[in-house]
Amino acid sequence: MTTMTMYEQWASPVIRQIREKLAWSSEKNKDKLPYTTGPDGSYLDRAAGNDCNGLSWWTNGFWGGTMWLLYQDTQQEGYKEIAQAAEQRMDACFNFFYGLNHDAGFMFQPTAVEDYRLTGNEASRRRGLYAATLLAGRFNPVGKFIRAWDGAWPGADTRGWAIIDCMCNLPLLYWASRESNDPRYKQVAMLHADTAMQHFIRADGSVRHIIEFDPETGAYLRSHGGQGYGHGSAWARGQAWAVYGFTLSYLYTGKEEYRAAAQKVADYCLAHLPQNGLVPCDFTQPAQPAWEDSCAAAILASGIWELAEALPGAAEKEHYHQAAWRLADALYRQRTDWSRGCDAIVQNCTAAYHDKNHHFPMNYADYYFIEAVYKMAGKNYMPW
Ligand code: GLY
Repeated sequence: MTTMTMYEQWASPVIRQIREKLAWSSEKNKDKLPYTTGPDGSYLDRAAGNDCNGLSWWTNGFWGGTMWLLYQDTQQEGYKEIAQAAEQRMDACFNFFYGLNHDAGFMFQPTAVEDYRLTGNEASRRRGLYAATLLAGRFNPVGKFIRAWDGAWPGADTRGWAIIDCMCNLPLLYWASRESNDPRYKQVAMLHADTAMQHFIRADGSVRHIIEFDPETGAYLRSHGGQGYGHGSAWARGQAWAVYGFTLSYLYTGKEEYRAAAQKVADYCLAHLPQNGLVPCDFTQPAQPAWEDSCAAAILASGIWELAEALPGAAEKEHYHQAAWRLADALYRQRTDWSRGCDAIVQNCTAAYHDKNHHFPMNYADYYFIEAVYKMAGKNYMPW
């Protein structure tokens, strides 16, 4: 007889709640690409127009990704059908082209690449390789970074901009190298990861959001506060992308420095976590207003769990497993909604500190929370 770990015991009833909520919410929203909810708690469709705010919106892959997680758990065909419908709908992004940017990994890895991994679907493999090729095409060889966005807003010159979030898009490139046997994708990913290690991570383990390089010479110009509190601050979701992204780069390459970078950023986050275990929008923000970002918490929980798995020593493994579980449990107890009053589970997400709106659901918070819970249950459904 096998004994369940304390994490498996914790995860088991949470998974029952996830199954119940998603059985209802997936059916209700099967024709949408959800990002956030409207005033009545129902998901809105984020796919109006082809641009980077519509069909090419960077989070649109997480709906299909969530469906594939549930499909693997339940083996119910309905989830597969919804995931594949979302993937096919997103195909038009390739024809439009202009809406696509460095977020190609977030968009096509949990959808097309996952479809191919689970079903062998050849059209999905092609989509995955196409997306990876577009992502690699954003590489600036002089500055050795992947350009983040194109016209982020009218008049902005973002030719030299790289952002920490991109660390979680790199697995698409590692996958493409493995799949195509062409080392260039991995080379691009590692050159970008090396640049990110050098320029984004501060000595104390906090992380910058945006770095601006000279697009012609590659020289470092300046950093920007981006979605965080301000210049020099520690935007929590950026820290989370770094922890998870460097861990994944380590897993694909075996380069120890990447794991050490992930650990250093994780330690910064854990040292700055408030007493209630909930993650603020920015670790350096003033006490008031106390904006939270549950999405950062969910990404951190899944990323720190992955880091724990990648560490060799039993004691440090357990330290980070505990830390990841505490983050997930704090979210579960204080910021989840299992009712039918809201289509999303995870509440109180914040897209950016200085935005007008705060504390609303974001579909990828649900994705990463569910991913973390499955990991804690000992299930390996990793799409990255
Ligand atoms: N990758 C964009 C964000 O985290 O808001």
